[in-house]
Amino acid sequence: MKGSPLSAQSIASRLVIDYRNATSAAVGDLHGVSEADLDSVADRIRSEHERIVGEHAAQVQRWQDLPDNIELADEIAEFARDARERYDDFILIGIGGSSLGAIATIQALTHPYRNLLSAGQRVGPRFFVLDNPDPEKVRATLETVDLSKTLVNVVSKSGQTAETAANFLVVRDAMYAALGAEQARKQIMATTDPDTGLLRQMADQEGYRTFPVPPGVDGRQTVLSAVGLIPAALSGVDIHALLAGAAAMRDRASSADVRENPAYLLAALSVLSDQKHGKSMLVTMPYADSMFGIADWFRQLWAESLGKKFSTENEVVNAGQTPIKALGAIDQHSQIQLYTEGPNDKLIQLIAVERYRESVDIPNPPDDIPELGYFRGGELGQLLDRERLATSWALTSAQRPNLTITVPTIDAAIVGEFFYLFQLQTVMAGALYDVNPFGQPGVEAGKNATYALMGRSGYEDLKGELLDTADDAGSYVNRP
Ligand code: PA5
Repeated sequence: MKGSPLSAQSIASRLVIDYRNATSAAVGDLHGVSEADLDSVADRIRSEHERIVGEHAAQVQRWQDLPDNIELADEIAEFARDARERYDDFILIGIGGSSLGAIATIQALTHPYRNLLSAGQRVGPRFFVLDNPDPEKVRATLETVDLSKTLVNVVSKSGQTAETAANFLVVRDAMYAALGAEQARKQIMATTDPDTGLLRQMADQEGYRTFPVPPGVDGRQTVLSAVGLIPAALSGVDIHALLAGAAAMRDRASSADVRENPAYLLAALSVLSDQKHGKSMLVTMPYADSMFGIADWFRQLWAESLGKKFSTENEVVNAGQTPIKALGAIDQHSQIQLYTEGPNDKLIQLIAVERYRESVDIPNPPDDIPELGYFRGGELGQLLDRERLATSWALTSAQRPNLTITVPTIDAAIVGEFFYLFQLQTVMAGALYDVNPFGQPGVEAGKNATYALMGRSGYEDLKGELLDTADDAGSYVNRP
C-alpha cells in the first residue's frame, strides 16, 4: 500500500508461496484453480486494490500503518526492559483479538517450555493467559503465580467484554487482597481504547498505566499494536524485527496484480477454490509446533472477518470459508485420512520451514533391526519436512488442492510477514466475497445475550426472550 519510511530497519520479504498443487494442472479442472479462474478476478482485484488504497489514504484500513509505529515500539521495549527485571509472572487478561496474536507470537518465537525454565534461563516473566472465564483455570493460575511479583495486563478494545471484565475483577480482587490497593495498582496495567469504554474509565480512576488499542482497527487486527507487542516484548521477542517483517511484506504486497501480490494471490486462490470448486474449508497446517498459534490466530481472522450474513449491498449471502488449524506431522495421524479420502471440500495451506532453529540427529538404529536403517544419517527436521512434502504429494495425488508457504527459518521478521500477509489476504478475500471484513455483528449478538442472561441493565427484554426460549426445550432433552 505504501512504503515504510519510519521503519527502524528496512528488510526484504522472504516468504515463498508455491501454489502449483492448488491448480487445475495438478488436481484437475473440478478441484483446482485454473489460469482462467485467476484471470476472471484480476480486474476485480485491481479495482478493489484501488479502493483499499483510497480508503487507506482516507484514514480507513489503519491496520496497515501499525508496522510504522516505531515510537510506540521503542516505548514498549523500554517498558518491557524494566518490567522484565521486576516481575517473575505476567498475566494477560483478554480474549479473541486481544490475546490470540500475543499467544501466537510468543509461541512462535520463544522457548516452547519457557514457563518451566528458571528465571535465569528465561527472558522475562512467565506468561499466563486468562481468556476463558473458566473457574478451574483462573483458580489454578492464581495458585501458580506469585502475586507480589506479578504484572497484570488487562486487554480489551471495547473495555466491556464480559469474559475479560469478569476475569479481571477476580484477578484485581486477588491482587488487592494480597498486596493492598496502592501496590496492586502499580502492578496492573491496561491496554484499551485511549478515550472511551469501561476499562478506560476504571484505569483512569484507579491510576493504572495504560497503552492504547488504536482506534479504527478491529481487535483481530491489533497484533502489531500495543495489544500484541507488550506481551511479546515482555517475553523477549524483538518487536522491532516483528514490525520490520510486516513492513517488508507490506512493501512486497503493494502490487495490484493478482499473480504478483502474494496476499491477493492467496485471497484469490482461497475464494476461487470455495466459490468455483466447492472448497468451503481452508486448512492451515504448519510443519512446526511453534507456528500452530499462528494458524489459530489466522483461524479467528478468517472466520470473524469473512463469515458474514449480508453482502456490502445488504443482500443475504451467508459468506465465509471455514478455517481449520492442523499441525504437521501430528495431524497426519488424525486429520489427513479425512482430507485425503473424505469430502473434497478443502484447500490446504501447508507451512514449510527450510531450516529449523535446532538440528537433532537421529542416532543410528541397532544393526539387527534393518527395518529402521532408513534413519541412518537422518535428522528430525529433515524427517518433519519430508513428511510435509510427502503429504503434499499424497494430497495432490488424491486431487486435493494444496499450497505451500515456505519460510527460510522462524524468526520475528518472518512472523511479522505472516501477520501482514494474512491480514491483507483477508481484506481482499472480503472484497471478493463482497462482504465487509470489518466488524463482527454475529459475535455482538452472543455478547449481548450474555449481558442479558447476567442481568446487565438495559438488556431486560432480551433476557425475557432468552429465558422463555431456554424453558421451552419440550421433549428434546435426553436425561438419564
Ligand atoms: O476481532 C475482534 O474484534 C474480536 O475478536 C475481539 O478481539 C474480542 O471480541 C475481544 O474484544 P475486546 O478486545 O473488545 O474485549
